[in-house]
Amino acid sequence: MQQQSSPSPKKRVAVLISGRGSNLSVLLQAARDPNYPAEIALVIANKADAGGLDLAVQAGVPTAVLLAQDFPKDRAGYDAALQAVLVEHRIDLVCLAGFMRLLTAEFTRLWAGRMLNIHPSLLPAFKGLAAQAQALAAGVKIAGCTVHLVTADMDAGPIVLQAAVPVLADDDEASLSARILAAEHQCYPKALAWLAADQVMVCESDGGGYQVRLRQRDTTREQGALFSPTIA
Ligand code: GRF
Repeated sequence: MQQQSSPSPKKRVAVLISGRGSNLSVLLQAARDPNYPAEIALVIANKADAGGLDLAVQAGVPTAVLLAQDFPKDRAGYDAALQAVLVEHRIDLVCLAGFMRLLTAEFTRLWAGRMLNIHPSLLPAFKGLAAQAQALAAGVKIAGCTVHLVTADMDAGPIVLQAAVPVLADDDEASLSARILAAEHQCYPKALAWLAADQVMVCESDGGGYQVRLRQRDTTREQGALFSPTIA
């Protein structure tokens, strides 16, 4: 008799947000595909009025709100409460999606290799707040976004996926942010799928840092260069 292999269970994902939740929205959408290797099992916000909470409720996903003011000057206490909610919901992977709060080194260690963040720049350029404005101020011609594993250092963990977009001569912060956001929406569901399907391997890079390799993919395929401004 032929043995049927049962499909691996979907990874249970918590998405942490502070605002409108457009990245949450594309993750929810991707997870509707029966073949997607992850389900969005919990949304946590650090703001009671985060718009993304409504998206979660509409999608029937449980939500939790953890307010900083309930843990005055107690980052460890906040992160312990966060951890308790994640454990209660049997969460396997965490996605930071516009979660505007620094996490303690201890918490990032608990989730090492299991927590992603999306940042609106081509890291390691323009870490921190207002990355798009930083890119405009620096006059770069190519900007983009990065999905990376989270480590104790802000916006510095191993990079899983990046997308580049041109910076146009008449861009302002809003127009550049919109172009980058469209790329973010393509990157995040893909990067989460790779992590959930155990495709993401972190290896030491030559320079003594870390680099992500994908287990079963040829990542060396030449896709051509992005020129900005375009050349003839
Ligand atoms: C995105 O630009 C993300 O890169 C950054 O915060 C923003 C969140 O946007 N970390 P949204 O709430 O997902 O729409």
